[in-house]
Amino acid sequence: MSTRIISVTSGKGGVGKTNIVCNLAFCFASMGKRVMIMDADLSLGNVSVLMGLSPKYNVSHVLYGDKQIKDILITDANGIKILPASSGSPELSHLTESQKISLMARFEEFASAADNEGEPIDILLIDTQAGISPNVLYFNLAASEIYVVLTPEPTSISNSYSLIKILNTRYGEKYFSVIVNNVRTEKEAKEVYRHLSLISDKFLNVNLTYLGHVFFDDNISKSVSMQKPSLSLFPDSRSSLSIRKVAYNILSKKDDKISDGNIQFFLNKVLSAV
Ligand SMILES: Nc1ncnc2c1ncn2[C@@H]1O[C@H](COP(=O)(O)OP(=O)(O)OP(=O)(O)O)[C@@H](O)[C@H]1O
Ligand SMILES: [Mg+2]
Repeated sequence: MSTRIISVTSGKGGVGKTNIVCNLAFCFASMGKRVMIMDADLSLGNVSVLMGLSPKYNVSHVLYGDKQIKDILITDANGIKILPASSGSPELSHLTESQKISLMARFEEFASAADNEGEPIDILLIDTQAGISPNVLYFNLAASEIYVVLTPEPTSISNSYSLIKILNTRYGEKYFSVIVNNVRTEKEAKEVYRHLSLISDKFLNVNLTYLGHVFFDDNISKSVSMQKPSLSLFPDSRSSLSIRKVAYNILSKKDDKISDGNIQFFLNKVLSAV
């Protein structure tokens, strides 16, 4: 099976991307999938914190030190591979062109090395920063599927539209999937999706797919404090059930872009975008 390269992104910050990524990774891993998370919030990454891990090295050691991707890659107790970001390196929030090339060259080395256990990753989840910075656009362009997370707040809806608009009008991205977080009912989620679809259909040439919603649930903030995916701590909670539905929808969905789906493709796509 080829690797699905999925970016999980948002126009507005704090909408739940990292929680969704960590929980989806946990869900996929528990189904026997080989999963990797790339923490692409390079300067202020949270994935390791949410997974209760304290990596010794991170992407800054690849860019500024002599570490290779395989040296910074960690594997959690569930077999999820994580590429940790730095936590507090502002210079990484705007990668230079040469850093992008260097990072991807390291990725390429890793992808072609024999010591990455030889087995392909089924799903690579890229947890991006929020917003429309060059880093965000870069990682979204590199992915073969773009999942936009938003909440019912009008600011979140309008910032999602802005992100989709830039990716569409400047870079020709057409396919986006939508996950609505922090909702109390399915009806509320559908309403948010309808709102975003209406403005997108009116002004852009895009194709939006509704991937599902995640219910607002205090268990999510509790699991953040406990540094474990909420799906592992509260598997029967309302939010966990809704996240599992999203995971099933992802598995039954086809790739958005035609790709050979391997890491090599990811690299080539990124390199051609710089
Ligand atoms: N469904 C939910 N129910 C309740 N709280 C939630 C839910 N989803 C996320 N949260 C809370 O929202 C906060 C932000 O979540 P998270 O860090 O995943 O967002 P983010 O989009 O990754 O943020 P950033 O843009 O800063 O990277 C967390 O404190 C988390 O506990
Ligand atoms: Mg985050």
